[in-house]
Amino acid sequence: MYIVPKLEDFSASALDAAARDLKSALQSESAAIASEADWKVLRDRWMARKNGVLTLLNDQWLKAAPTPAKREVGQRVNEVKKIVEEQIDAALARVSSTVSASRLEQERVDITLPGNRRKLGIEHPLIRTMNEIVGVFKAMGYSVAEGPEVETDYYNFESLNFPPNHPARDTQDTLMIKGQQGKPLRERLLLRTHTSPVQIRAMEKQPPPIRIVVPGRVHRADTADATHSPIFHQVEGLAVDTNITFCDLKGTLDQAAKAMFGSSVRTRFYPSFFPFTEPSADMQISCFKCGGSGRLKGERCGMCKASGWIEILGSGMVDPNVYGFVDYDPKKYSGFAFGMGVERIAILKYGIDDIQLFYQGDVRFLRQFA
Ligand code: DAH
Repeated sequence: MYIVPKLEDFSASALDAAARDLKSALQSESAAIASEADWKVLRDRWMARKNGVLTLLNDQWLKAAPTPAKREVGQRVNEVKKIVEEQIDAALARVSSTVSASRLEQERVDITLPGNRRKLGIEHPLIRTMNEIVGVFKAMGYSVAEGPEVETDYYNFESLNFPPNHPARDTQDTLMIKGQQGKPLRERLLLRTHTSPVQIRAMEKQPPPIRIVVPGRVHRADTADATHSPIFHQVEGLAVDTNITFCDLKGTLDQAAKAMFGSSVRTRFYPSFFPFTEPSADMQISCFKCGGSGRLKGERCGMCKASGWIEILGSGMVDPNVYGFVDYDPKKYSGFAFGMGVERIAILKYGIDDIQLFYQGDVRFLRQFA
């Protein structure tokens, strides 16, 4: 490493020699650096105000020179200073350009690589289940009808044979639209509690025969938990024609259950009550997990709670009172109706343990249906 010599001889030739030594030391030291950190060390060594080579030159050459030699020595020192500054600047330019060249090398883009493929979306499992149910009935000749989610008291309740103040209304509490008290009860707006009002709207629009399924969103004043949601989905069905009997209801719904859950499921009908059907029946299917035995590998079956049966929908023969609201002649026509919860069917089909998963939009859940 270069050390600034003390000068004894201030002659031109001695000064030349000293300057030559310094320049060659500078050259080899600046050639040796490989990074910006090295360069900072070099710069400080040569140019630091305290104890840098240039400062020492001032002290040991210029200040030490006898008065007659000062002019000459001053000139040499200035020349050397300029060279040092230039070399140090050049050294920085060299290291930073090699650093950025190697960064470029690393960041090189390989245009022959395949692009990032954007994943295709999928149908939401609820929509998929809803479409599947609708598809089963479409294959049997049903068409699709829809109706409004904000419904009048008349369509949601009264025309479906829930008279004002009838206790059956308590089972379907919902949100009422604000500021409706001035209107007659039947015109007041509410969020529909089921898709059944679309039965009435469809029968108002067309005479029999009619066969429709009605997918849609419905609302109830239920607190959200693992099995309840204040907003959920239903598929409704209605068939009215001459000579429709309870046998048609059973045959149609049995066929639908087999199409949805597999051809080995059996169905049974349990007495129930709905204001707009008479008689009414809940349909149960034999448990597709345990085959209806209620037991699974010697343990009790959790799917059907060991009963061997699972309830999947409500149904019944359309109550003649309902025909009175839509101008269908109950002496000439008869029919059946049914309604099922889409969430419930999807939960059963896919073995889902929390209804809220449908609404949270978590891709880890949704991806399983891709
Ligand atoms: N609307 C009923 C409910 O939401 C379900 C239902 C039952 C619909 C029987 C029907 C039916 O069409 O016939 O609980």
